[in-house]
Parts: sequence; structure tokens; C-alpha cells
Amino acid sequence: MNVHAAALADAHLPDKQTSAFARDAVQDLSQQPKRLSPKYFYDATGSELFEAITRLPEYYPTRTELSILRDRAGEIASFVPEGAALVEFGAGATTKVRLLLERCAFAAYVPVDISGEFVKDQADALRRDFPTLAVHPVAADFTTAFELPAAIAGLSKVGFFPGSTIGNFEPHEASSLLRSAAQILGAGARMILGVDLEKEERVLHDAYNDASGVTARFNLNVLVRINRELGGNFDLSAFTHRAIYNRERHRIEMHLISKKSQHVRFLGTSFAFRPGESIHTENSYKYSIERFAALARASGWKVCESWTDKSRMFSVHALMAEG
Ligand code: AVJ
Repeated sequence: MNVHAAALADAHLPDKQTSAFARDAVQDLSQQPKRLSPKYFYDATGSELFEAITRLPEYYPTRTELSILRDRAGEIASFVPEGAALVEFGAGATTKVRLLLERCAFAAYVPVDISGEFVKDQADALRRDFPTLAVHPVAADFTTAFELPAAIAGLSKVGFFPGSTIGNFEPHEASSLLRSAAQILGAGARMILGVDLEKEERVLHDAYNDASGVTARFNLNVLVRINRELGGNFDLSAFTHRAIYNRERHRIEMHLISKKSQHVRFLGTSFAFRPGESIHTENSYKYSIERFAALARASGWKVCESWTDKSRMFSVHALMAEG
């Protein structure tokens, strides 16, 4: 057994998702500049911390998107074919999807998420509240190819990608993701997609640097995961949360900054940090309506409608697969 395998066996982690985390963490922290993928924020604690973020006074996206979905529910319902299957990319809390399920005549709901446990609990609650709805959870990383359940093969498909999760991807990755969504959902597919909009820097800054420090804990949680799941020895008090707006690249960047010169070990590898050195943990791209429409069009989708709130903070788009 080599050092890596031994360390893995030691940490009791033979499952597929943990070994992907192990591989990515070692690789990404060996890069210059260091980075970690935001998809690893979401273990049980991370998902709870994110839910807490969505309730923060400074974090406008969730409540603004919900208000758009509520205000436009009638228009969304007429955009959606009757008896279709709703396929959600990256399902978390069910508040938004419940709004759609209450107002549109869906026959099936397919939440696709990397964290299988969370999705299963939510699926049970949905089955109880929507007894005629067929719920088919899929435990998969939606950024890689996955199969839709055979049970929905005959139904029209409507993708649902809320929360501006698309903003976590580089524009070229967002484009491939939209293309692969069109492929997975098939001919005639529709999609409802939430996208955060560019705005005044102060508002963006505060949304990712909240006064109560929940976003800081969310960011640091990825190091907690490395410690627990990969046997790491990160000293959490030696790293600090920073979120900055990069206007040229239209994105909020989250970083974890090393407060001092230090070494951290996990899986038999040592990582050196300079004082002030960053681990880049997340990008959250912001779009204008026009830039998003151009991205969608270049990725196999026609934009049928774009809705925003009065203050133009957030947008929701109704797309139809081209060809
Ligand atoms: C879930 C990716 C949309 O970018 O606003 C919230 C994640 N990060 N606060 C976002 C997040 C810091 C969120 N997304």
C-alpha cells in the first residue's frame, strides 16, 4: 500500500465521492495559486451553513429569486407543458421547487444532487405533500454525465437550475454545462434558470462578507472537511475568510488567506503556505441579462423570457432547447 492509499484506508473513506474529494484536494492545493472546488462546501454542515446564508439580511439572491418565481408563477406555468418531468440540477432546500410544483402540473420531479442523503430526506417530504407526484432522486455530480431515471423516459423535460449556481462555473464551463443539460434533457426540453445580476460593488461585497460571519464559517468548512475526512491538520484560526469583487471578470471571489507561514499535511502530502497566501475557494459570476442571453444562445438554448425584480438584483430565464 502506498502512503496515499494507507492514509485513505486510515480515514475509513473508500467511497467514490470521498476519493474524488481526496484526489481533487491534493491536486488543487498543489497548484499555484492554490484552489479548492466550491462543490466540496456542501457536506451536512456546509448545506446547513448555506441555508443560514440564504436567511442573512445581506444575502439578497435567495429571497429575490423566490419573489420573482412567486410573481411570475402564472407565466412559468404556461411556459411548462402539462405532465412534464421537472429535473433540478443540484437540489438543496425545496422552497423554490415547491413553489413550481404548487403552480405547475408536473407529473414527476427528479432532484439531481451530489449529496444523496439530503436529497432522500427532502424527497420523502415531497412525496407526502404531493401524493400524485412521482419523485425520483438521482445521487450524481451534475457536472459530469448522468442518466435520467427510465421511469420519466416518455415525459417532456423541464430543467430547473435556480440560485445562480451557474455562476460557480467559468463562463466556458457554464456553456458546456448548458450544452450537456440540453443533451440530457433531450429534444423539446425547456429550462428555468436563476442568474445573479451585476450591481453596485457595496451590495455584492456585503452579501459575501456578512456582519455575523456565517459566510466565513461556510468558507472555512471546506478545511474542516479536509481535517475530518482526509485526516488533515489545518489550524482553522490560522486562515481567514476574504471575498472580493473582481469587476473585470464580473465575479465575486472567495479566498481563505493564510495568516502566517505554515505547513499543513494530509494524505501523506505536505503543503507550504506563505503569509498572506490564498486558497481560491469559489467564483460567483454575475451576469447582465444580455451577457447571459448570449451565453445561453451560444450553448444550444433559445431565451424565451427573462424576468427580474424591480431593483434588477436577480434574474430568472425561461429557455427552450434549440433544434
Ligand atoms: C450557491 C453558488 C449561488 O455564489 O452566491 C453564497 C454560494 N457562496 N455565499 C453564491 C455562496 C458564498 C452561492 N451559490
